[in-house]
Amino acid sequence: MPEKNNKLEQIIALAKRRGFVYPSSEIYGGFAAVYDFGPYGTELAKNIKNYWWKVMVQSRQDIVGLDSAIFMSPKIWEASGHVSGFSDPLVECKKCHGRLRADALLEEIGVFADEKMSLEEIQVVFKENQDQIKCSYCGSTNFTDLKKFNLLVQSNLGNFTSDIDKNPVYLRGETCQGIYVNYKNVLDTSRVQIPFGIAQIGKAFRNEITARQFIFRTREFEQMEMQYFVPPNIMESEYDKLKELRWKFYLEIGISENNLRWHEHENLVFYAKKAFDIEYNFPFGFKELEGLHARGDWDLSRHSEFSGQDLSYTDPKTQKKFIPHVIEASAGVGRTFLALLSEAYKEEDLGEGETRTVLKLDKKMSPIKIAVFPLLKNKPELVEKAKEIFNILKEKYMCEFDDSGNIGKRYRRQDEIGTPYCLTVDFETLEKGEVTVRDRDTMKQEKILEKDILNYFSQNL
Ligand code: GAP
Repeated sequence: MPEKNNKLEQIIALAKRRGFVYPSSEIYGGFAAVYDFGPYGTELAKNIKNYWWKVMVQSRQDIVGLDSAIFMSPKIWEASGHVSGFSDPLVECKKCHGRLRADALLEEIGVFADEKMSLEEIQVVFKENQDQIKCSYCGSTNFTDLKKFNLLVQSNLGNFTSDIDKNPVYLRGETCQGIYVNYKNVLDTSRVQIPFGIAQIGKAFRNEITARQFIFRTREFEQMEMQYFVPPNIMESEYDKLKELRWKFYLEIGISENNLRWHEHENLVFYAKKAFDIEYNFPFGFKELEGLHARGDWDLSRHSEFSGQDLSYTDPKTQKKFIPHVIEASAGVGRTFLALLSEAYKEEDLGEGETRTVLKLDKKMSPIKIAVFPLLKNKPELVEKAKEIFNILKEKYMCEFDDSGNIGKRYRRQDEIGTPYCLTVDFETLEKGEVTVRDRDTMKQEKILEKDILNYFSQNL
């Protein structure tokens, strides 16, 4: 069985071997902190996003969806505070010129830099501990002084060089800014009234200094964010409801409760009223999966101030005018993906020296729901029947047809992908109209009448 500290290595190997995640630009030697999702990874990520959308939008009358552009006016990032304040403390190794996060280096030696500490304060702590801190690339202990490193990724979009230099455009650092700047549009054009929410799934980009731990921290990633606009007096009760909803989401997608915990931020950024993270017990310890923040009226007030537009709301009953407060649930697709792989990855001892690797994913999350096999590849009548069944099932489920290798190998492959059911067509199918269905978790096989197949899967999936 894998030890916790090498479980991440096992997961990374499986993710590559089975087409879940590939390092970006691999044939060119890779591209740091960026990853591509392969065929099964794409399906798993889609299942995560679809379920999030189902819970956060489809089943709610008071939440609507949005898909805002990645490029936005640079003023948005000034108003949000990202241009001036979205930075990490950076040190450079004087020997190899590798760039590293000072707080991460401190954390490695068990010294924690508080989120609210100024750069100067972290510098003092860093100096005090410098003899123990080693460059992660070359092992040197010789570092430059700390400086602030802005995480926004700049682009050269624009028509005039002067504009690009003076007023650079950024790839969005979080998806929620697209929600705030469209809040009034949504309010004016859809049938929502405060309190209501806007949800969005999309890419975000951050120039992370040290990206580590596989897809946990990447420079390009997807967020699933919901911003709920409320009058100040119900902010607390709505925040508590959102916390409950988000916790439940993780249980529903197959995360066990003992691998989840709440982390309350004690040192809040000045505008935040409350901040909790849901943390997952990754192979490298408990780390943030999702942030839930009560952001007060900071976001809409700032965009109102910087755009000159009135973003206040007038309660139709009381005629009271106010700037809505925002509570947000902000989750990462990549982190949820990694949590699901960590949770589902099992190496099982089958006895007599045999083992198997299996992804015991929740069936909703499994990339492939049913794999259809003809017992023998060289028997056209079996292949034809299996294809006929595959063609029926694929209309309703994500299925895979596989006739390569022996049945045992095909089962092992599907186990590693996390496919809950394998259906085999053999001679009894032709003679008695029966197929064999094998369950991923129990490995038990049962005979099902061909005419009952759809009914069987609609009950079990
Ligand atoms: N709008 C609030 C916001 O963006 P955040 O805590 O910076 O808050 C929210 O990010 C979530 O986005 C995190 O909990 C995480 O799941 C995901 N996330 C943030 N940075 C990431 C990165 N570099 N790589 C992968 N996921 C990331």
